[in-house]
Amino acid sequence: MAFEKTYLMIKPDGVRNRHIGEIVNRIERSGLGIERLEMGNVTPEQAQANYAEHEGKPFYAGLIAYITSGPVVKMVVSGEGAVAKCRQLMGATDPASAAPGTIRGDFGLVMDENVIHGSDSPVSAEREIAIFFA
Ligand code: RTP
Ligand code: MG
Repeated sequence: MAFEKTYLMIKPDGVRNRHIGEIVNRIERSGLGIERLEMGNVTPEQAQANYAEHEGKPFYAGLIAYITSGPVVKMVVSGEGAVAKCRQLMGATDPASAAPGTIRGDFGLVMDENVIHGSDSPVSAEREIAIFFA
């Protein structure tokens, strides 16, 4: 395992439903470190850059509208195997199939509002950190 950084973002529903503390607690308890943390809104430009891979898909417009719909919590998290460890903590993309004990399994209800985003590789992490912490 390598020391890595990953980009995490508590999405608007996670903030709205008051899960910030619980999510930050789970990240810290897992042994990972929080290097940067900032609350704010995602601009349409940032949303489009972050989700460029999904452009043209049926859910794209809704995804951009949702991620810009209210404040988010942006984080740079680091540690050994941070990318995979965070994906484990998050659980499956669809909360309906995310395991109990995962963030999406415990706090998510539907695919379109799934509480948290986490980079899927160290390369994605670098790209996303540049977008959100320019
Ligand atoms: P994320 O990027 O948000 O961490 O989630 P992920 O890697 O688990 O999932 P990804 O495939 O990258 O999809 C990004 C976000 O798009 C929404 N989505 N909706 N309705 C659908 O079929 C659908 N597919 C994806 C989800 O909110 C997902 O988190
Ligand atoms: Mg993704």
